[in-house]
Amino acid sequence: MHRTAMTCFPFSFSKKSSSSLPSTRPNLDNDEDDISSIQNVKIYTYKELRNATDNFSEANKIGEGGFGSVYMGRLKGGKLAAIKVLSAESKQGVKEFLTEINVISEIEHENLVKLYGCCVEKNSRILVYNYLENNSLSRTLLGGSHDSIYFDWQTRCRIGVGVARGLAFLHEEVRPLIIHRDIKASNILLDKDLTPKISDFGLAKLMPANATHVSTRVAGTLGYLAPEYAIGGRLTRKADIYSFGVLLIEIVSGRCNTNSRLPIEEQFILERTWELYERKELVALVDTALNGEFDAEQAVKFLKIGLLCTQESPKCRPSMSTVVKMLTGEMEVDDSKMTKPALISDFMDLKVRHKQESIIDTRTSSSYNTSSASEHHDTTIISAATSTFTTQHDHSM
Ligand SMILES: Nc1ncnc2c1ncn2[C@@H]1O[C@H](COP(=O)(O)OP(=O)(O)OP(=O)(O)O)[C@@H](O)[C@H]1O
Ligand SMILES: [Mg+2]
Repeated sequence: MHRTAMTCFPFSFSKKSSSSLPSTRPNLDNDEDDISSIQNVKIYTYKELRNATDNFSEANKIGEGGFGSVYMGRLKGGKLAAIKVLSAESKQGVKEFLTEINVISEIEHENLVKLYGCCVEKNSRILVYNYLENNSLSRTLLGGSHDSIYFDWQTRCRIGVGVARGLAFLHEEVRPLIIHRDIKASNILLDKDLTPKISDFGLAKLMPANATHVSTRVAGTLGYLAPEYAIGGRLTRKADIYSFGVLLIEIVSGRCNTNSRLPIEEQFILERTWELYERKELVALVDTALNGEFDAEQAVKFLKIGLLCTQESPKCRPSMSTVVKMLTGEMEVDDSKMTKPALISDFMDLKVRHKQESIIDTRTSSSYNTSSASEHHDTTIISAATSTFTTQHDHSM
């Protein structure tokens, strides 16, 4: 039932082989000493990646996001890769870029996409990742139509727990720890066994400060953003936990966080979830595509965890390791003090107010582009944007 996107590759492979640092390291002038500690980053030549993708052909393009286009490619030796060409010209120097990549490439976890390496020739900044056969949750679970896969209840549980584990690892185990900042269905990729892999972690940190990506899916994007981050610019791990809560509810319900085709009272998933929680009817939110074949108690528990993760006060949201324990049944879910989550519709109300609109739009796009356009509006986001690996804002929570 799992659809994989396999294509024929009429490629002529480059004669020049890729090799690890330092042999094909680009000319780094005086930086060589500084980056001699970099060991894990494989440097690909531009020519090699061009060959692997048939000259970055449309036929090999598998997607386009805020950071640039993604191509499927077959590397020398036959390995498939997802090759992400960053769209903006990086103002970041080669040394800084490689240093950041080094941090990410050292991180390995079953629930994180593996970075193979990168290319930094001239103005090109290209990232090479492990290719994942079953695309993203947004396409296969929430997208409907041709790319759809049937996700049974066990698979959904495994995906929820897997994403939680990957995030707990980034938040609590790696040093320096990482706040993802863009947890959403399109950044959860699935391998051939439907094991979830978080992608794009650390990517925001790699983007130049002048990048100007404005998301075309603002409504959907807004749906994952913790209000204190989207409006106030306060970035902590709790912003990721909020996004995870929204994602978890999407996984159980099989629907996007925002759907303007539904009756107004059902359009925002968090609002709907809270309403059903109050009426003790949470089970009604479970995806009807499951045809009733699911563990109702467990499904309701997952939805309550989603509500806990999206509590208005960041302090009331559990840590990701606690979330993992609650999802796996090692810890009880205590909803006795649970209050209404921070609702997206409240945020949308704010957005339509004329004066606020431009500020919110600016800040929204900024979360996808490091500091980008927020520079003149919100210094907190700028410092937050540089805190991906440092968490200086995270101590109080
Ligand atoms: N490692 C990978 N394996 C397979 N497909 C991938 C891989 N990385 C990305 N893709 C596909 O490429 C598409 C574009 O990904 P990209 O991360 O650029 O955009 P996005 O996640 O939709 O948005 P954003 O820029 O906000 O992250 C996604 O739909 C995803 O399915
Ligand atoms: Mg992405």
